Amino acid sequence: EALPDGIVIVGRGGRIAYANQLMQRLSGYSRRELLGKPIELLVPEAARFDHERHREGYAGSPRARPMGMSLDIALQRKDGTVFPADIALSPLTTEPELLVVAAVRDATERRQAQRLLAVLEDRERIAKELHDGVIQALFAVGMTLQATEAKSGDREVVRNRLAEAVDSIDEIIRDLRNYIFGLRPGLLADRRLDEALRELTAEFQERTGIVAAVDIDPRVAARFANSSGPLVQIVREALSNVARHSQAGTCRLSFLERDGQAMLEIDDDGRGLDGRRAGSAGQGLRNMQERAAAIGGRFSLESAPGQGSTVRVTLPL
Ligand SMILES: Nc1ncnc2c1ncn2[C@@H]1O[C@H](COP(=O)(O)OP(=O)(O)OP(=O)(O)O)[C@@H](O)[C@H]1O
Ligand SMILES: [Mg+2]
Repeated sequence: EALPDGIVIVGRGGRIAYANQLMQRLSGYSRRELLGKPIELLVPEAARFDHERHREGYAGSPRARPMGMSLDIALQRKDGTVFPADIALSPLTTEPELLVVAAVRDATERRQAQRLLAVLEDRERIAKELHDGVIQALFAVGMTLQATEAKSGDREVVRNRLAEAVDSIDEIIRDLRNYIFGLRPGLLADRRLDEALRELTAEFQERTGIVAAVDIDPRVAARFANSSGPLVQIVREALSNVARHSQAGTCRLSFLERDGQAMLEIDDDGRGLDGRRAGSAGQGLRNMQERAAAIGGRFSLESAPGQGSTVRVTLPL
């Protein structure tokens, strides 16, 4: 009687042989109303027929097994209302006739919490992808077009820049489709991680005029192929920050082994951050930190005014 679950014991022919107090409370039936009734009394009407068939199957090969942990199992109360339930079934083998003990727990809150969590996780993921992928990419296209305005006397340059902007927009559309389907950023679709990082940096240099050196150990990159998505997004955001905030002349992307650890760094020789600016309303730094943590890495930002800045992700090898 002191168990935290509602308990019913089901005997021959699926008839209820015992119900504890909590089971009475969960179902709204008194013990007298339950005893001797088919267990299907507690099963929602639509599922009763199937339940009988399942029960007969269970009687043929009784094995303790949890039920309802992944299935959408529900019970019906006396007043006709239905509630989701987690149910664990186990046979009582000591008895001459097969008795089955069912432990029943109201799963309303657990399932609601689960659903809410899934929605929140999804929302967080989409916010990140849009911020690091789409917003930064659109920002880059905007910069290209702005630079074009200044050159509008030179038709050749204007034509090339416009063609680039159109290409970039096509890529952003492809990325958006990928995010929507929960896939990895399009840059990775047909490339290895080291190739994708090189490509990102080359695009960055072409677009911003900031000279960008790349130093990637392909073996280190290959070790983190499974984390390609987050790593690419970290680099994207770090480069976007260099383009937007640093006024740097050069920058360097490296992904190497150092002291037995893998180290991803994005370095620039720009004006650096002061404490106040780093705490600004932006989301980029926080996203990078969270992405690094999610793949087991440590994120750090080193910078001093006038001394450039270094974004670093350290990963265990
Ligand atoms: N490489 C850099 N050089 C100089 N300042 C930087 C650099 N990276 C970041 N900052 C400063 O740190 C601030 C916070 O960066 P963060 O990426 O979090 O936000 P943001 O880039 O302003 O906005 P968001 O990334 O959300 O579009 C920036 O606003 C900028 O002032
Ligand atoms: Mg940013």
